[in-house]
Amino acid sequence: MNKVALVTGGTRGIGASIAIALKNKGYTVAVTYQSNEASAKKFQQENQIPIYQWDISNFEACQEGLNEVIKTHGSIDVLVNNGGITRDGFLHRQSTDQWNHVITTNLTSCFNMTRGVIESMRERGFGRIINISSVNALKGQIGQANYCASKAGIIGFTKALALENAKKGITVNVVAPGYIGTDMVRAISEPILEQIITSIPIGRLGQAEEVARAVLFLADDMSGYITGETLNINGGLLCN
Ligand code: CAA
Repeated sequence: MNKVALVTGGTRGIGASIAIALKNKGYTVAVTYQSNEASAKKFQQENQIPIYQWDISNFEACQEGLNEVIKTHGSIDVLVNNGGITRDGFLHRQSTDQWNHVITTNLTSCFNMTRGVIESMRERGFGRIINISSVNALKGQIGQANYCASKAGIIGFTKALALENAKKGITVNVVAPGYIGTDMVRAISEPILEQIITSIPIGRLGQAEEVARAVLFLADDMSGYITGETLNINGGLLCN
């Protein structure tokens, strides 16, 4: 039987590429989305991948949503915690809402989603959890104290979870993309984005498919000896 994979924030950008790559590899895939119904429906029609709408920052919504996915598709073997947002701004001008929204959507969601699948993965003796962080967790970024904190938190979360589940056939890893040509990055103002691209040693934005490739690798049965790791895909941004 096909393994079941669930990707949060899986109808656009990096998440969509991950979902499509998993489907092409033979997984049964489901994705969640937060609010952009038009692009979610378009994604579903184009790719024949079922979409589920819930707020990943809400614990109860995650448990209800997960139950529905499991009832329809079977137990989840691969969880990709990809859903995330930015609310950029200098900290001296940031509101409590800007902080909380980013932390709960990007980091608390990893707890909410993982808590709902981890017991079953432990019972079945298999699981792959792949958490999407960011190069900015490791190098910092102007205007992103909230985002960098949430994405760095994911790395600590991953390492602790990897240790807790190492003897249960479950691996937990991070993929940390750099600047990928998605809506999120293209929303950066033109002069700042140009400045960012100039700083990338490879000299271009990454492609979502280049990130999906790493997720496929970590999800594979043969990657069972890799756990607690961070795989960086950033065009060389951390070399300097
Ligand atoms: N890299 C280098 N310099 C930056 C910068 C960046 N990412 N962001 C801001 N700056 C610089 C500006 O060039 C400007 O410099 P000067 O004063 O010399 O002109 C200074 O910081 C102040 O910037 P603004 O004039 O834009 O100030 P603002 O208050 O209007 O806006 C801001 C502040 C919201 C942080 C805005 O600058 C911004 O959106 N910056 C981009 C932040 C960013 O890089 N976000 C990444 C989003 S993509 C992502 O997060 C995906 C991922 O995982 C990699």
